[in-house]
Amino acid sequence: MPFTKRDEMARVFSYVEVDSTQDEAKRLIANGVQPPFFVVAEKQTKGRGRLGRSWVSEEGGIWLTYAMIPAQGINPLVYSYGAALAIKDVVEELGISTRLRWPNDVFVLKAKVCGILCEADYYGSGSAMRLIRLGIGLNVNNDVSKVIAPYPVISLKMVTGYMLDTDQLKRAMISRLEEFLSEPDKESILKRYQSALDIIGKTVRIKTKHSSLLGKALGLDEEGLLVIEEEGTKEKLHLVEGELEEE
Ligand code: BTN
Repeated sequence: MPFTKRDEMARVFSYVEVDSTQDEAKRLIANGVQPPFFVVAEKQTKGRGRLGRSWVSEEGGIWLTYAMIPAQGINPLVYSYGAALAIKDVVEELGISTRLRWPNDVFVLKAKVCGILCEADYYGSGSAMRLIRLGIGLNVNNDVSKVIAPYPVISLKMVTGYMLDTDQLKRAMISRLEEFLSEPDKESILKRYQSALDIIGKTVRIKTKHSSLLGKALGLDEEGLLVIEEEGTKEKLHLVEGELEEE
């Protein structure tokens, strides 16, 4: 289906419960809805995360997908970095300090508060992106005590000690995401994202689905891939995906 870029504000489709906002976005598109649009749900029964993990999505959190037509020539990573910066800003406006963990997690007090999943569809078997679905999960008032994950997990309510207004936060997220990503400025996103990352120059371990490597994080390349100088070999690897651990 051919899509055309539009300048107006994106529509928001709100649900009480869906399987996954990513899948609902796919269905809306299959039924002829033109991106850009947002899908938000109070609860997901089959929320999914990166690296094939499931994502616990109980009531009280913000589960959102931003479906859009990407600008050609911009790596999907740039979109997920822009989304991480947008969420960082929204959370910091509440007076809470955040850290970004590569590639696109937002951490508060050494625990993950927000995860981002970027899924893209391509034209035929080529490398030109046709559509992008940016899925964002933010733990707000939801109970995260039973979440099983290979990293500590936190909600904003655990940090503030009180319930937050999820409608207000949702509106802030949508407006910041549109501001950063409807016409993304690749150079400025990469510059801001790299300076928000505090691993540059440090030794890190990156785990992928099948391997693990240790090396010094040198920075981002011009497409946004993380450049690691592998310990021992000094080979420079450009990474698009993985799970980062600081040594
Ligand atoms: C991660 O593993 O860190 C990414 C988590 C992404 C979760 C969000 S919640 C909204 C959207 N719908 C999903 O099924 N997943 C993403």
